[in-house]
Amino acid sequence: MSELTGKVILVTGAAKRIGRSIALRLAAEGARVAIHYSTSEDEANRTAEECGGAETFKANLESVAEIERMFAEIDERMGRIDGLVNNAARFTKFDPLEVTEADWDFIHDVNLKAVFFCCQQAARRMKKQGHGRIVNISSLGGLRPWAEHAHYCASKAGVIMLTKALSKAFAPEITVNSVAPGVIPFGEWNDAMTALLEATPAARVGTGAEIADAVVYFLRASNFVTGQVMAVDGGLSQR
Ligand SMILES: NC(=O)c1ccc[n+]([C@@H]2O[C@H](COP(=O)([O-])OP(=O)(O)OC[C@H]3O[C@@H](n4cnc5c(N)ncnc54)[C@H](OP(=O)(O)O)[C@@H]3O)[C@@H](O)[C@H]2O)c1
Repeated sequence: MSELTGKVILVTGAAKRIGRSIALRLAAEGARVAIHYSTSEDEANRTAEECGGAETFKANLESVAEIERMFAEIDERMGRIDGLVNNAARFTKFDPLEVTEADWDFIHDVNLKAVFFCCQQAARRMKKQGHGRIVNISSLGGLRPWAEHAHYCASKAGVIMLTKALSKAFAPEITVNSVAPGVIPFGEWNDAMTALLEATPAARVGTGAEIADAVVYFLRASNFVTGQVMAVDGGLSQR
């Protein structure tokens, strides 16, 4: 998919923050972006407008039935799917000694289960079309252990292994790669972020546009690039 012009690309969690940056960039590349959102309807509509009147799709990705309904709606309204960017996720902080079953499921239902079933839905269609590109947004937390985010780190490490396993399962028509962001703030700040920033060789935090650059690379790359994880983290994962 060297040219993104006219390609139908679904971005999950695209209403704001990193997902919005990815959607805007894909629209600028000429793609027909499908904007998924769950609760942020106003922001999703704004992003869709900024993308030149993109289609929006609402779904709670915790539910496989909702994922299946969303892909059926994409079939109906957009006719095909060439690319999928699994961006939607949750992030919570808990002492692992205190994590409950509900806390665990809250994270894993969106961060890992939904990523798998979105990949499955997209790949079934892409196999029939003869080509497709999938990019899963993981995290520095899937590469490095963070004590108070053990449940989150496990979900994102799962995304990375899912990416590698599915790259073999879906080859040669479909590539599956992952972008692992470092610290990408949108106004919020805390002590943990200060510590991460101090350890970042690039000596700064990143932007949504920099994550979008990496996503575009994987979407445009040939099928000789698959099963890869690109950390976009200012070098933090090398420390
Ligand atoms: N920001 C960072 O520093 C950073 C660092 C490392 C990795 N990442 C990864 O990069 C991606 C984007 O990060 P972000 O900070 O921009 O994300 P975010 O704002 O925390 O979440 C993105 C979107 O996920 C959607 N979402 C959450 N639960 C959902 C559900 N049950 N069903 C459907 N959608 C749901 C939300 O959509 P609605 O608002 O519409 O409900 C939300 O806007 C995530 O995968 C994240 O883990 C981010």
